[in-house]
Amino acid sequence: MSTLSPPENDRQLVRVQAISGAIFALFLLAHLVNQMLAALGPAVYDDAQRLMRRGYQAPVLEIVLILAPLFIHAGAGVLRMLRRRARGQRTSTSLGPRLHRLSGIVLLIFFVGHTFATRGASLLYGVYPEFAGIAFTLRWVPAYFIPYYTVFAIAGLYHCVYGLGIALPMLGLRSLSPLRRPRLLVPLAGLGSLLIILGMLGFGGVLCDAGKPEQSPYARLLVRLGVAHAPAPSAPVGR
Ligand code: HEM
Repeated sequence: MSTLSPPENDRQLVRVQAISGAIFALFLLAHLVNQMLAALGPAVYDDAQRLMRRGYQAPVLEIVLILAPLFIHAGAGVLRMLRRRARGQRTSTSLGPRLHRLSGIVLLIFFVGHTFATRGASLLYGVYPEFAGIAFTLRWVPAYFIPYYTVFAIAGLYHCVYGLGIALPMLGLRSLSPLRRPRLLVPLAGLGSLLIILGMLGFGGVLCDAGKPEQSPYARLLVRLGVAHAPAPSAPVGR
């Protein structure tokens, strides 16, 4: 068995995946920076999200920049995995590409549920989760939501940076291939992961006053829908 380059007819699929990934990355990078801002408290986080939302939830833009590229990218990824498996093709064993595949699988597992839980709430009930809603989930089931959001965000960060290091050179920006080389990738992913963890500490009320998340519209919606029970008044996660 050998790791032959993908047959010609796969090149189209690789190109579709590169273009859809690069488009979605515009939202994802802004979205991850938004999560890092949680370290500065609810007001900064919510103000930034409301400003960004004017762009990414503008009717046509939301479909063209987020939902369509996201589902096309995920679909192309699944198709390529199935084709590789059908051909018995082995994948590269070096760490960079392996983490790229692993982070892609993590995103594949969680992105539908996440999009439904966040965007679904605002589309169906007019309730935006915002800082308080995320902070509530960390208090509601900490053993699940703390590792889930941390791993999901760091997987998103790594997959995005490494993926842009593949996609942008393929789309003609050859000077950006260093994004997937350790010298640039490690500091970018390392610093980004640290800022994401600080953001999580913000949501947890450790770095800032997280207010009363159990009284947030999102928490009340989850209780009203019978998804969550009304929790006791909150203290910072872990105190
Ligand atoms: C710490 C981790 C994360 C947190 C706390 C978080 C939080 C949120 C929140 C609060 C919203 C609603 C935004 C709004 O109302 O304007 C949202 C939407 C969304 N998130 Fe995340 N997110 C995280 C990571 C990610 C990652 C890694 C992805 C990558 C797939 C992602 C994909 C999305 C998508 C597609 C939407 C819907 C955007 C829209 O159409 O409005 N999120 N997220």
